[in-house]
Amino acid sequence: MTANGLSDLDLRIASLSVHADDSYAMVSDVAPPLHVSTTYHYNSDPSKLKSAREHDIRIKTDESSFIYSRFGNPVVERVEAVLSAILNGHAVVYSSGLAAYTGSLAYYHPKRLSIGDGYHGCHGVAHIFTRFSGLEEVPLYDDSVSEGDLVHVETPINPTGQSVDLAKAVDFARSRGAKILVDATFAPPPLQDPFEFGVDMVMHSATKYLGGHSDLLAGVLVTKDPTVRDALLRDRGLLGGAPGNFEAWLLLRSLRTFKMRVETQAKNAGKIVAWLDTAIKNKEIPVLTKVYHSSLQTEEFVRKQLKTGLFGPTFSIEVESKDIARAVPSRLKLFHHATSLGGVESLIEWRAMTDASVSETLLRLSIGVEDADDLIADLKAALLSFSEN
Ligand SMILES: Cc1ncc(COP(=O)(O)O)c(C=O)c1O
Repeated sequence: MTANGLSDLDLRIASLSVHADDSYAMVSDVAPPLHVSTTYHYNSDPSKLKSAREHDIRIKTDESSFIYSRFGNPVVERVEAVLSAILNGHAVVYSSGLAAYTGSLAYYHPKRLSIGDGYHGCHGVAHIFTRFSGLEEVPLYDDSVSEGDLVHVETPINPTGQSVDLAKAVDFARSRGAKILVDATFAPPPLQDPFEFGVDMVMHSATKYLGGHSDLLAGVLVTKDPTVRDALLRDRGLLGGAPGNFEAWLLLRSLRTFKMRVETQAKNAGKIVAWLDTAIKNKEIPVLTKVYHSSLQTEEFVRKQLKTGLFGPTFSIEVESKDIARAVPSRLKLFHHATSLGGVESLIEWRAMTDASVSETLLRLSIGVEDADDLIADLKAALLSFSEN
């Protein structure tokens, strides 16, 4: 942060979400305007004009102005200022989480990708790279991992919401001379900061908690190294992965309320998971067999990673049979039966519909900002209805 004296202040996430882009305002509007233009006037003073041989058109410097919105535009720049501040590094925004992931694979261009459990779409992107760059996909902690390879860890994991040991994964990557990328979509700040564990790059599907309203697609890569950020920007300018102006504007607007949304969602989820866990232990709901969530893991690393005491707002449950799993969503009143997660409205998904790798008895729940007790009552009534005649 450079203007308005903000650089003198030690601001926290809630304040940064509202003010980290203040110095980027080009007009006096309090609410950032939506800039729709794809192209920008060049400076009318010829002495200020540089040829492409003298400057990098894909990286905007303080002195240079916008050129073409695939390379950068005023709203994307403001969003990146906010995301850099709250994600604790240099953020580059993309048109979706998978576009961001594609950007990271294009940048690292590893021979081997050591990838653990997680979102099936990232595995799908990796498969495409095996086709056109000869990338080899190997499991996490595979013996073949060596210098120049990339380790990809997702934590907490989609769809269970359970955590993976980051310190262990970082040690493994370092011992092999590999880089490590963490998909932290399921635990945005303030819940978790993977950089505290020394990872090289953090990724989020901003479609989820950062966007938070189920109305935009976006993704973000974050690096501590400004030269890596510049390289990502150069690639993005050519690969065409920048978000559209309107999506970037929606994301900026969403970020203003980011912390209060995530905290409410995480608190609600914690309460619901605790209730489900007790219900299983007391055999109160016959059809409910399992609940998965980081808050139920007993390994020491979980509370080191999710150190605020709040865990991710998305988790999974299992019920007795495939038929019951398929029918549960239609008996709920406050949960939409839909894929995705992170929005203010609670969602439930019979996960086998979009993910062929999971059990057909699994349901994924993304908890929103409704009242937790109302959500519990809704779940209780729906799940108990299968035991009534
Ligand atoms: C953990 C995780 N990473 C990445 C993605 C991909 O993000 P997007 O849908 O924004 O491309 C998703 C989408 O569900 C996800 O859950």
